[in-house]
Amino acid sequence: MAAPKLVGIVGSFNRPSKTYALVQDVADRAAERYGFASKIYDLYDVGASLGSALWRKDLDDQAKEVVDAIVGSDALVVGAPTYKGSYPGLFKHLIDLIDPHELRGKPIIIAATGGGDRHALMVEHQLRPLFGFFMSHTLPTAVYASDRDFTDYRVSSESLSNRIGDVVSELAAFFPGVNAVLAAAE
Ligand SMILES: Cc1cc2nc3c(=O)[nH]c(=O)nc-3n(C[C@H](O)[C@H](O)[C@H](O)COP(=O)(O)O)c2cc1C
Repeated sequence: MAAPKLVGIVGSFNRPSKTYALVQDVADRAAERYGFASKIYDLYDVGASLGSALWRKDLDDQAKEVVDAIVGSDALVVGAPTYKGSYPGLFKHLIDLIDPHELRGKPIIIAATGGGDRHALMVEHQLRPLFGFFMSHTLPTAVYASDRDFTDYRVSSESLSNRIGDVVSELAAFFPGVNAVLAAAE
């Protein structure tokens, strides 16, 4: 049986990136627990055609590959940096090119980073309604991290790590077969 596919989307083009580090941490822990084949894409991977594409057909092959991977995934980890109290416009443009039915019912872990704690509800007030539009299953625990949760672009705070553990556990409801295999092996 093929491993389920987990795709991480990072709404940042910075390298290194705290948002990338966060999505990577979540994806690695989910892959370890559920046996996902995981792949992460940031906006740099999507490439320059995103900014000039008015429609999905205008994307180049590199960007189309990312959109196809998002749509074809079994689960998503979506992380965005906070820009002006919300997600970056270029990230929203990527999501705007996805048809409404294509993310329906998909389990999605939502995550965000910000400079401080002031915009911690960005995950609840911006990211969750966005994927509510798609009728996706955003998992109950949303993950927000600020600068002090990272050391050298790695997750270093215990409270953040615990929260990541919580949301990774919540994925079990969507992958009961994988869980049963793991339980039997213990
Ligand atoms: C244009 C811009 C706007 C920002 N606006 C906010 C903001 O409203 N609230 C906040 O907490 N941080 C804000 N920040 C800080 C970033 O959200 C923060 O540094 C983030 O972790 C960067 O993620 P990255 O390292 O993945 O690019 C802003 C940064 C930029 C560049």
